[in-house]
Amino acid sequence: MIDIHFGDNLEILRAFPDASFDLVYIDPPFNTGKARTCTLTRTVRDDHHGDRTGFHGRRYRTETVATRGYSDTFPDYPAFLQPRLAEARRLLRPDGSFFFHIDFREVHYCKVLLDGIFGRESFLNEIIWAYDYGARTTRRWSPKHDNILWYAKDPRNYTYRYQDIDRIPYMAPDLVGPEKAARGKTPTDTWWNTIVSPNGREKTGYPTQKPLAILDRIIRVHSNPGDRVLDFFAGSGTAGESAARNGRKAVLVDNNPEAIAVMARRLGFARPRFHGIAAPDGGRRRRTIRTQAAGPR
Ligand SMILES: C[S@@+](CC[C@H](N)C(=O)[O-])C[C@H]1O[C@@H](n2cnc3c(N)ncnc32)[C@H](O)[C@@H]1O
Repeated sequence: MIDIHFGDNLEILRAFPDASFDLVYIDPPFNTGKARTCTLTRTVRDDHHGDRTGFHGRRYRTETVATRGYSDTFPDYPAFLQPRLAEARRLLRPDGSFFFHIDFREVHYCKVLLDGIFGRESFLNEIIWAYDYGARTTRRWSPKHDNILWYAKDPRNYTYRYQDIDRIPYMAPDLVGPEKAARGKTPTDTWWNTIVSPNGREKTGYPTQKPLAILDRIIRVHSNPGDRVLDFFAGSGTAGESAARNGRKAVLVDNNPEAIAVMARRLGFARPRFHGIAAPDGGRRRRTIRTQAAGPR
């Protein structure tokens, strides 16, 4: 079951009972100081004003369908996050885990904040999600990674389904036997994964959408089938799709009506329930959309 809540997450979180989730993943705005936007376009046939020639010599033009976005500027970012992070801890079951997705600009401040809320001993990993996409700067090393901090509510008792970790190819398969090479190895705390392809099937057109493969790894390893997952900065609903496809329940929260519309369309297959907003009409229509992406951030 998927529940989608519309509204400010702090108010919504405060209404949930203690210890009601097994896994909390959040990917809040990163305080980049910029508006996060993504323009959706579609190609339409236009014999008179088309500016491109396509299949069978027909003329086409590109039109803008919508621009989606949300603000990513906070005068006091830690003050915004602090009460929400405290709620995340309250809402976790005793063996639950918390995953916090951020980037190099804020990760250090957030780590200190989270150590204060969960306790330093509860910090288990900083996962580096490394990708390779988009322009490079010639003035410094191009930042091409995000940081994901993992805290367990109880560092002596948490879910870690080692047997469900996906295997990746060895970098030097010739150095291990053929059997090992064929089986692959488990990933370390550095996860190489491409961003959501701007033209691929996974793309919803929501800015800063995260890859399903990253959420699949977190959800399959850090929760059990039937568990409840919470994402209270849900955006396009990547955590919700992963939860639904992996047999977990999910509660998703976002205060942007565009995010709710995207989630309604994306998660229509799981028949989600809506709270604080009528079910948008997004689930029924599907159309082909090409998107222009600017990378994860
Ligand atoms: C980085 S995006 C999440 C992207 C998501 N992980 C995905 O894969 O699509 C952050 C989201 O947090 C939402 N948000 C920001 N402040 C919020 C608040 N106070 N309450 C609820 N949602 C909020 C924004 O609308 C945005 O959709």
